[in-house]
Amino acid sequence: MPNAISGFSKLSKSEKIEWLLETYFDNKDTARDLVKQYWNSNEKLQKLHDEFIENTITNYYLPLGVAPNFSINGELYTIPMAIEESSVVAAASKAAKFWLDRGGFKAEVISTEKIGQVHFMYNGNFEKLKSFFESIKSKLIASTSEITKNMERRGGGILNIELKNKSKDLDNYYQLHATFETLDAMGANFINSCLEQFAKTFKIEAETHLKDDLEIVMSILSNYVPNCLVRAEVSCEISELKSKDISNTELFAQKFKQAISIAETEPYRAVTHNKGIMNGIDAVVLATGNDFRAVEAGVHAYAARDGKYSSLTHCSIDDGVFKFWIEIPLALGTVGGLTSLHPLVKFSLEMLKRPTAKDLMQIVAVAGLAQNFGAIKSLTTTGIQEGHMKMHLMNILNQFEATQDEKTKLVEHFKTNVVTHSAVVEAIEKVRKK
Ligand code: MEV
Repeated sequence: MPNAISGFSKLSKSEKIEWLLETYFDNKDTARDLVKQYWNSNEKLQKLHDEFIENTITNYYLPLGVAPNFSINGELYTIPMAIEESSVVAAASKAAKFWLDRGGFKAEVISTEKIGQVHFMYNGNFEKLKSFFESIKSKLIASTSEITKNMERRGGGILNIELKNKSKDLDNYYQLHATFETLDAMGANFINSCLEQFAKTFKIEAETHLKDDLEIVMSILSNYVPNCLVRAEVSCEISELKSKDISNTELFAQKFKQAISIAETEPYRAVTHNKGIMNGIDAVVLATGNDFRAVEAGVHAYAARDGKYSSLTHCSIDDGVFKFWIEIPLALGTVGGLTSLHPLVKFSLEMLKRPTAKDLMQIVAVAGLAQNFGAIKSLTTTGIQEGHMKMHLMNILNQFEATQDEKTKLVEHFKTNVVTHSAVVEAIEKVRKK
């Protein structure tokens, strides 16, 4: 292979960049300048970021925006959001303000259990395996005492270990299915360390007491956390929905509910509907240094828990009361990992009043619900293009380096004209000719 390289990871950062420039770039100076332009001038801060991952060459910025005016269980929050997509922060802020005047968001954590599994193969008798497991279960737990002592001191730790027979699904397949309480830590390292210790102890004990073939395949936490659940909701009298863009509140409430019912029943719509929810959720998860891939994987599995992919939000209209809620699994941490390393994560957590993991679960669920409220409100009233095209207009104006005066004129012009790329270009030219 012409571009294969061995020992790349051992090169210095500059050597790595030079190799990339030599191998892939025509204009090496421009590419080098670009990479360096994104380095932080504070060397210590840059080194911190360099060391988060391997083979770092530069930083990749995402905007960090804030959505103020979120009332959650009577407390006011400004929510940090790291996201590249325009309109998301604006929609969150708008939804926050809308519900601030209507009682705010209520949120509650339903459960906080995390899960991990030791997957193994066994070709003996299940009853024998079961009694062996029962006989060594306490030894398995005791063997992790060094790992669990701090977590236990704080009130968390291993909740239970069960033996699961999965041999009907896959020949000879069994699991140690363990549950954990990891308090304010996301707990991935804690859980994985416990699991690997269970596996070691289990294997050693099996060799001396069980004597049948038992092979550990792997030990790993599960990102599917259906018992680490949070619920957030908003509600008000239908008549209270009246606002600048909602004149017929009955019609609005009915159409809103229909849109949610469509997402509950139609997977094609549910995926986009939930994507919009994740716009809000991922942005806060990222800003607070949590693992958005883990959250995404777990959330979508939960959305398909009944065998059909469905909406994460729900709506009811009873006795003139409009209620809109989300129930979602979120395994989050506010200590450990990036939370104590990344300066902007620390900043975000301080802005959120140093939340516990439970507080953060509630805040993140609210961000998802608010985002969905904004999307469904737009979709069932004006359509989303109105807002998007305003942003699109700004992007085109910036591309053409429009002055403030030109911007003001063109924004005014496009209040009554349809935004398309060619229409904007034409209008800029016209303004500039005058
Ligand atoms: C776009 O990022 C998100 C939406 O498509 C969500 C939705 O359709 O509900 C607007």
